[in-house]
Amino acid sequence: MLSVRKCKRIEGIINVPGDKSISHRAVMLGSLAKGKTVIRNFLMGEDCLSTIACFRALGVKIDVFEKEVVVYGSGFGLSEPDDVLDCGNSGTTARLMLGILAGQNFCSIVTGDDSLKKRPMKRVVDPLLKMGAKFLGKKDSTLLPLAVKGGELKPIYYEMPVASAQVKSCILLAGLFADGVTYVKEPALTRDHTERMLKHFGAEVDIEHDNKIVSVKGCPVLNGCEVIVPGDISSAAFFMVAAAAIPESDIIIKDVGLNPTRDGIIEVLQEMGADIKIIDSKMKAGEPVGDIRIIGGKLKGAVVGGSIIPRLIDEIPVLAVAAAVAEGKTVFKDAKELRVKETDRIAAVARELAKFGVHVEEKPDGMIVHGTKSLNGAVCESYGDHRIAMAMAIAGLLAEGETIIKNTESINISFPSFENLLKSVAVF
Ligand code: S3P
Repeated sequence: MLSVRKCKRIEGIINVPGDKSISHRAVMLGSLAKGKTVIRNFLMGEDCLSTIACFRALGVKIDVFEKEVVVYGSGFGLSEPDDVLDCGNSGTTARLMLGILAGQNFCSIVTGDDSLKKRPMKRVVDPLLKMGAKFLGKKDSTLLPLAVKGGELKPIYYEMPVASAQVKSCILLAGLFADGVTYVKEPALTRDHTERMLKHFGAEVDIEHDNKIVSVKGCPVLNGCEVIVPGDISSAAFFMVAAAAIPESDIIIKDVGLNPTRDGIIEVLQEMGADIKIIDSKMKAGEPVGDIRIIGGKLKGAVVGGSIIPRLIDEIPVLAVAAAVAEGKTVFKDAKELRVKETDRIAAVARELAKFGVHVEEKPDGMIVHGTKSLNGAVCESYGDHRIAMAMAIAGLLAEGETIIKNTESINISFPSFENLLKSVAVF
């Protein structure tokens, strides 16, 4: 449980934990590479720890230190696990790892928690079947638990029906085990961390930006290396929204990942009138990183839809909180993927913001949030979803009286230090 009160402003200089997407990928590629991979600023959140546990079960030696992880790569020599591979709550672990398992000449069984067992896996099973892997699982092999038996794969050209970085990454990782070049075409540009990291480890990756086609050459030699994980912009988002929406706030978030496939939140908050500046941006281990300064003020509504959606998909719950206190209405559309995240995030946001007195119209592919002058404190559910829990905590900072968010353990999935960091910057 988390109790939050209205605050006067947000103030300070902070760092947020390492990027979740990049941390997962570093463990996976480090496990396949030859030699040692050192991952600095690794996110010690439950999702990434699930990835470590799975790759240890596949025979990889991985040492975990306070902020650093060292992976002793197997050089494409994973071994058959003795038990079921449990991905916990992590869709990224399940979908990306299935791509790797599809290339192994042994049988593995992948499962997850109750939320993950409801999330669609057909989107990765379909292309992997085309590449030659075999599956057996619930609901015609479309849900976890799934048994996968792999082996040598065929390269494919695959047009993805949904814009999903997890699907793209799954196919590219499977493509490492195919003799030839595997192509993926996406309907909209999604996060490109896998492509960047594959190059960083020495794989041959080609990107046709205009056509949104990515390809990888199979059977490469991947070399262990150093990965410096930037701060997670999806975690920074909570503090960005709090600072932008509370007048007189002034916060600097240091060393945040500014990958252009992830920075849609900056664009939208600026369009809503927020004062946001990037200071000191540089490249670190193939990813752009910089400090973000946000000064509080008044926000106005915006329309958020189209190709920007994959660039801010995980930030929509907290952007809806910004919309709740903005002048006018904010329309979120083309975002039906939100319905198959850790929970149905459209339904969850609509239901919980209503408790603060906000009028939200739920739509099949999004919602319309009508901004209001003041929010009332509320007792909120988190639906076991880390981003809903944290978004409602930010709403609590903006609301009169006390807000209580129930069952907030899920915050540990991506941001274990969230509560302490929030306390350190909130001025009452
Ligand atoms: C992720 C991709 C996105 C995102 C998720 C992490 C990744 O999911 O929502 O939190 O690391 O590739 P989809 O691929 O389902 O859009």
